[in-house]
Amino acid sequence: MIEVPMKEKNLHYEMDFDALEQAVTEDTGVLVLCNPHNPVGRVYTRAELEQTAAFTERHHLLVVSDEIHCELTLEGEHIPFFSLNDRVKDYSITLSSAGKIANIPSLPSGFAIIPSQELRRRFQDISLGLFSTPNALSFEALHAAFDGSCDEWKEELRDYLRENRDYLESRIAGIDGLRVVHNEGTYLAWIDARDTGIEDPFAFFKEKAGVRFNNGADYGQKGFVRLNFGCPRSQLKEALDRVEAALQAYRAAQ
Ligand SMILES: Cc1ncc(COP(=O)(O)O)c(C=O)c1O
Repeated sequence: MIEVPMKEKNLHYEMDFDALEQAVTEDTGVLVLCNPHNPVGRVYTRAELEQTAAFTERHHLLVVSDEIHCELTLEGEHIPFFSLNDRVKDYSITLSSAGKIANIPSLPSGFAIIPSQELRRRFQDISLGLFSTPNALSFEALHAAFDGSCDEWKEELRDYLRENRDYLESRIAGIDGLRVVHNEGTYLAWIDARDTGIEDPFAFFKEKAGVRFNNGADYGQKGFVRLNFGCPRSQLKEALDRVEAALQAYRAAQ
């Protein structure tokens, strides 16, 4: 695996196409795309996806597109990679599930969309026995999640998440040392804690605030933490109150 970090400017993340060009080798076979992106919360624009398609075509790469958060698009439009044009249908595998939008990760419901018959056959041959078998409830749940009967509920969920995101942004703006990347999709916030001067913010907030974020270092960026705002607003408020208080106490002790 070759990791190609995204480029960040003023807390806006983009794919780094120059770095991708430099990283690709003759042995590279697959580009893994994640859209909406976990953890930076980007929903890629058509122009960005077209640039990705041009890059992958030029280098004859298969695209495995992880679109598990597709229905959690809070801003802009989620454009499935395979829908870009007819050519990409021949070399793309889209992965998704009802796990995120319906919050049912314990009911295995992952699926792959593979428009090309030839690729689908290869995928089926290779994947035989690789995946856990969904149980009978998974099929019911998957069907219910996508048959349209939950559309109103999904709208309400997205509205609630958007409000949580806006609340989070307004609170973080008032906390010295923290900045948050504007989220366009997913329920994950990518928080920059580098200006706090704290070496390991993940450990600090866990120990001093009792708030367990995900550690940014696990995603390749030390000094960052990831917050899941898919929760009741009261819980989000309490977490932010504790984070704010812990930072105030830290500064007072300096
Ligand atoms: C981008 C992305 N892909 C895949 C997964 C895996 O989800 P699951 O194991 O519930 O199928 C996750 C879960 O966090 C995710 O964020």
